Amino acid sequence: MPSDDGQPAILARPVTRIGGTIGVPGDKSISHRAVLLGAVADGLTTVRGFLRGEDCLATLAAMRSLGVHVDDSGETLVIHGAGMAGLEAADGPLDLGNSGTALRLLAGVLAAQPFASELTGDASLCRRPMERIAEPLRIMGADVATSGGCPPLRIAGGATLHGIDYSLPVPSAQIKSAVLLAGLWANGRTTVRSPGPSRDHTERMLQAMGVSIELAGDGVVTLAGPAQLTGLAIDVPADFSSAAFFIVAGLLGADDGLLIRGVGVNPTRTGLLDVLRDMGAHIELRNPGRRGNEPVADIWVERSELHGVDVGGDAVALSIDELPVLFIAAACAQGRTTVTGAGELRHKESDRIAVMAQGLRAVGIAVEERPDGLIIDGGPMQGGRVESRGDHRVAMAFTVASLAADAPIEIRSTAEVATSFPGFTATAASVGLALEACDERS
Ligand code: S3P
Repeated sequence: MPSDDGQPAILARPVTRIGGTIGVPGDKSISHRAVLLGAVADGLTTVRGFLRGEDCLATLAAMRSLGVHVDDSGETLVIHGAGMAGLEAADGPLDLGNSGTALRLLAGVLAAQPFASELTGDASLCRRPMERIAEPLRIMGADVATSGGCPPLRIAGGATLHGIDYSLPVPSAQIKSAVLLAGLWANGRTTVRSPGPSRDHTERMLQAMGVSIELAGDGVVTLAGPAQLTGLAIDVPADFSSAAFFIVAGLLGADDGLLIRGVGVNPTRTGLLDVLRDMGAHIELRNPGRRGNEPVADIWVERSELHGVDVGGDAVALSIDELPVLFIAAACAQGRTTVTGAGELRHKESDRIAVMAQGLRAVGIAVEERPDGLIIDGGPMQGGRVESRGDHRVAMAFTVASLAADAPIEIRSTAEVATSFPGFTATAASVGLALEACDERS
């Protein structure tokens, strides 16, 4: 346990071999949406496999603060939908912790409510850009103020929204979803045009709840408001982004293979698989099926000789949350990997370009940082001390590096692993990684 004066850290000791069969927790993006949409649907929404990470628990707490009744049996959430007109003003600011998805999607929902709201979060979230959602919501007629472009976000409420035709500045599911969710209350058609692919869980779940969604190809999505949603039974797949750490770990050390069960393999999420296959990875999708509107499969990986590749264009958007662990794979590959067009990584829970570059250098890897990506020369990896800057995905990515390092890696500031992957160290131990929770050493 962390002491009062020490931040939690993880000591990852070198191991050479892992394997087994595991599951990983429920999908974060789908869990947020299940609660948000279930809350404003008519009737009951049941959610199995809800991710009990801090991010999704923040969304759940926020919806309860807005008057939504949710029964929690531990296994299943039962959301008593308040309907489109049933939310109530919260007593105070809504604290979304570390979660950009929670804050941005909830802003879309609250933009059209008759009451005022304030949305805030932790120090990391309060540094993240919010004009990207405030701007389209204002064009729709909402009164939204940011604090120098960041949270806290103040929404005056009481506005009548109208549909808009909006071109996203970047391919972002969070901005797209914020606009589409506000569009559910707006008069007329709301169209969102994206310059590239982004995850489509919002569209899929809205369709499953009875909302008519027009998909025009080339990233154009339209819905008509005011809309009504019908409660749904939702079975959340395992999170591909959490599985990604074990996919790369398996490629580095699973001589007899590693199987990850029941993972969501929505094609707007699985760009990492294509990039890794280009690098020479042996990966199989087994036992394909569906959970509701989402495709799932078991993912099988084996130790593979990887070589460097160039990554850019849509592949970046389709693997955006997996790039930290892809950088680890690149560091362990033969030759050079060049990632371009990934400037959005600078706006995640940390500046993932800078923080990953520093971490890779700390373990002896040659990296060149570019404004929109990294150039990584694969090579021998040493032990060292890595600062994760409170970024869950950076911390988990460097635990995977312990399969290639010649000495322990101390990963600092790891408390936020619980935002997306509760039980990560136990799952890692079950496949054979040697992680030890400790306090930061000075
Ligand atoms: C998410 C969208 C992505 C992703 C984030 C989750 C979502 O962000 O990085 O972890 O659930 O909509 P952007 O929309 O900013 O690309």
